[in-house]
Amino acid sequence: MKILLGVTGGIAAYKALELTRLFVKAGHQVQVVMTSGAKEFIQPLSFQALSGHPVRDSLFDANQEAGMGHIELARWADQIVIAPASAETLAKLRMGRADDLLTTLCLATDRPIMLAPAMNRLMWRNAATQENVAVLKQRGLDILPPASGEQACGEVGEGRMPEPQAIFEAVMHAEKARLQTQQAGSELKAFWQNKALLITAGPTYEDIDPVRFIGNRSSGKMGFAIAEVAAKAGAQVILITGPVALPTPEGVKRIDVRSARQMFAAVQQHYAAADCFISAAAVADFRVEQPASQKLKKQQDVEEMTLTLVKNPDIVAWVAAQDNKPFVVGFAAETNDVVDYAKDKLRRKKLDMICANQVGEGQGFERDDNALTLLTETSEKVLPTMSKHELAGALLRFVSQSMQG
Ligand SMILES: Cc1cc2nc3c(=O)[nH]c(=O)nc-3n(C[C@H](O)[C@H](O)[C@H](O)COP(=O)(O)O)c2cc1C
Repeated sequence: MKILLGVTGGIAAYKALELTRLFVKAGHQVQVVMTSGAKEFIQPLSFQALSGHPVRDSLFDANQEAGMGHIELARWADQIVIAPASAETLAKLRMGRADDLLTTLCLATDRPIMLAPAMNRLMWRNAATQENVAVLKQRGLDILPPASGEQACGEVGEGRMPEPQAIFEAVMHAEKARLQTQQAGSELKAFWQNKALLITAGPTYEDIDPVRFIGNRSSGKMGFAIAEVAAKAGAQVILITGPVALPTPEGVKRIDVRSARQMFAAVQQHYAAADCFISAAAVADFRVEQPASQKLKKQQDVEEMTLTLVKNPDIVAWVAAQDNKPFVVGFAAETNDVVDYAKDKLRRKKLDMICANQVGEGQGFERDDNALTLLTETSEKVLPTMSKHELAGALLRFVSQSMQG
């Protein structure tokens, strides 16, 4: 892999030497771009010696541009990694600034960017930094959470750069996930090209009052992974999602909703045009009968409070009951007796297929991997623990086989 390693002006810049060494040792090509801040901490020559390439540090150097221009350099990379990423560089990236070589490259690339922020704990916790990180994540940049511990400034807290080995592994993991997505995508093209796929994902929020709600721990990752892989395979994907912190996969039409009833309305609008409906959302079974229009006040001497809940529409069962229904796939997330319960749900709701999903005890929600058992009336396939992208590929393959009878 060709890795462009950006190094910015932070005390952890020296750790980027070890990271360079790890990449090179594993057979990857590395070109290093340093900010002028980074050069205050460490000599370019060290990176040059380790990477075997001259270090790039200037946007306006005719000699450097004559070797490989900055746009060429951006195209050269398969992956951009910035480690350490300073607070300043995070802010610049968030704003889309391009006043040095590194930030210009990041604007001029469509390659994946991974950031390893490193800074004093208060700089990290600062609302400005947190907002910058949230925006960059939303745009699809991969941001490694900084580690906790003793800092160079003598303080203790969150903000240390993760160890080079951890960054190395994160880059390798991201590359593997991308390859799996691509591979699964091309295999699936034969069936999914131009098929219309409707997916729901994430949790629903049922309001109690304007500031409180009943939600659940679904992260949306499974539904988003299915949407991403299906879109790569050429499907026309509509993704209806509850509140999640995930970027929209390329080529996917996303509809954001909050409550189960909003999700139902969006599904009702789109199910008829779909060849297949995959219900991966964790939809609340009940909602608060009468959400308060103003924040409920804490009342002295009141020890108990009762909320009356009423049933929400059963979205997947409703779609399965329509005359012009698409192929309907449900999910059963359970903590116990998963497969038995899923079989019962398959029959009761008249689904074409169900994906049984063990949750709890560290499995299922909020994770990047998962295990599923896929069931139809006549077949069963166990998918052992793997990344949600791999699972998405295997699931779409099973759906395509089931749809073709
Ligand atoms: C001794 C010293 C240590 C610093 N360490 C950090 C750090 O760990 N993280 C950070 O974000 N900024 C740190 N800074 C501040 C940055 O170097 C400064 O914001 C600089 O403008 C970063 O620019 P750059 O991102 O273009 O390299 C440090 C500054 C000094 C003087």
